[in-house]
This record gives sequence, C-alpha cells and structure tokens, in this order.
Amino acid sequence: MDLFWAFAQFRKCFGSPYFAACKGTCRRMCKMLNAAAADRNKDPILAVLKSRVASDRPLVALEISSGTGQHVIHFAKAFPNISWQPSEIEAQSISSIEAYREYHKLQNVKPPIYLDVSQSWENWAGIQPESCDLIVNINMMHISPPTCTMGLFNGVGKILKPQGLLLTYGPYAFNGSITPQSNVDFDHSLRYRNPEWGLRDVTLLKTLGQENGLRLEEIVDMPANNKCLLFHKDSVV
Ligand SMILES: C[S@@+](CC[C@H](N)C(=O)[O-])C[C@H]1O[C@@H](n2cnc3c(N)ncnc32)[C@H](O)[C@@H]1O
Repeated sequence: MDLFWAFAQFRKCFGSPYFAACKGTCRRMCKMLNAAAADRNKDPILAVLKSRVASDRPLVALEISSGTGQHVIHFAKAFPNISWQPSEIEAQSISSIEAYREYHKLQNVKPPIYLDVSQSWENWAGIQPESCDLIVNINMMHISPPTCTMGLFNGVGKILKPQGLLLTYGPYAFNGSITPQSNVDFDHSLRYRNPEWGLRDVTLLKTLGQENGLRLEEIVDMPANNKCLLFHKDSVV
C-alpha cells in the first residue's frame, strides 16, 4: 500500500470518535480505514451512477481497487438492486472492506476478493467473462504503474457484459497536457514518489478502450478538477 495514504488513514481512524468510543470492542472499527478523499467524492460519483445506471432490475457490479470500502458501502446502500463485489490487492484494505461490510450488514455486498488488476483477468478470483453489468475504478490509475491501467482495460473488456459500463474516476491528462497547475503539481509529486505513477492521458485510455471493445462515451466534470470517464462495451472481444 502507498504508505503515505495508509498513514493518513490510520491517523484519521485513531483520531475518530469511533476509536475513543469503542475501546475494547474497537478491533473491527479500527480496521475500518477512512480516506478523506473517498468521503469527499463518494456523493458526486454516486450522482453520476444514479443518472446512468438502472435501479429497477438486478445487476452485478465489480469495484476494482476498492481501497477502504467506503465507496462500495455508499453505492450499495443507494443501489440495493445491484450485487456489489469489492476487490483489492492490499491485505489491510481487504480487512477494512470486510470490517465495513460486517458493520453495515448489507446483503448486497459480497466479501472482498483479492484482485491484482495488473494480472490477466483469468487470475481475477474466478470472475467469469461477460458477468458484470458495471465496473467501477476510482483513483487508481495515476497511483499505480501503467501495467495496472493496461490490465484494467484488458480485463474489463473481457468480464463486462455487452452494453455494460466502466466508470473510472480521477485526475487525467488530455492530449499531453495537464490543467490546472494543482494537477500539474500533483502529477509531479506522484512521479517523484514513484516514476511509474502519474496522471494517465485520456487519449491513451480511449485507445486502450477501443482495443478492448470499450467506447469512451462521456467525460463528466467532477469537483476538484477530477473527471468521470464512462466507457461502454460495444461487443464481445
Ligand atoms: C489512492 S487508492 C484509492 C482507493 C479507493 N478506490 C478510493 O478511491 O478510496 C489506490 C488503490 O489502488 C490499489 N492498487 C494499487 N495497485 C493495485 C493493483 N495492482 N491491483 C489492484 N489494486 C491496486 C491500492 O491498493 C489502493 O487501494
């Protein structure tokens, strides 16, 4: 896990009312990590989902790189018709997702699975081809190596149903250019921390999508200079 991110989460947990209140019984709650960014962006992302995803028929969703589990719980409450599968590569995050799941007792959130998105989809915990209506990936591409971005599009192209939706969220570059300056600075700080990290270019993502049967249909402006990218699967690849 990104240590800086983990430390921020731990501080948040340690300083939270949960920690003070639960004392001996805090074990589960202390596993419930908190990412401030997830708290801030979960409602804007949910608004995008609500205007584009059906709420009146059963659907199957996979979240790739679920992080703490805050998003999947928030989305699952708003979409009881969707069976949500959270996933992560980091053991601490998997524990956090499971702790949130136990705490909220939502029937429509499955236990988290280990999923390394840089691996071929055949190694994604047995998820079957064309089994998902919706795949969500938030704030991962810029904070992981390019192999994760490539693995994401390769895998999603396989496991999404025809007409299924891939939603990605984060800051992006456009035609080699990053705006505003705060995103330029963020990109520099990411590359300083890890030369393989950095904002991904939407032009590249569009091409990667096309190569995997995914059509970039919409780019939605989001708060704090982020975007939602909405890809639809055209056909069987
Ligand atoms: C900035 S966090 C975002 C987490 C969460 N989506 C959110 O928005 O709060 C980036 C996440 O990418 C995950 N990640 C990094 N490499 C990965 C990989 N190879 N496969 C799956 N997830 C990965 C990390 O474990 C981490 O949870």
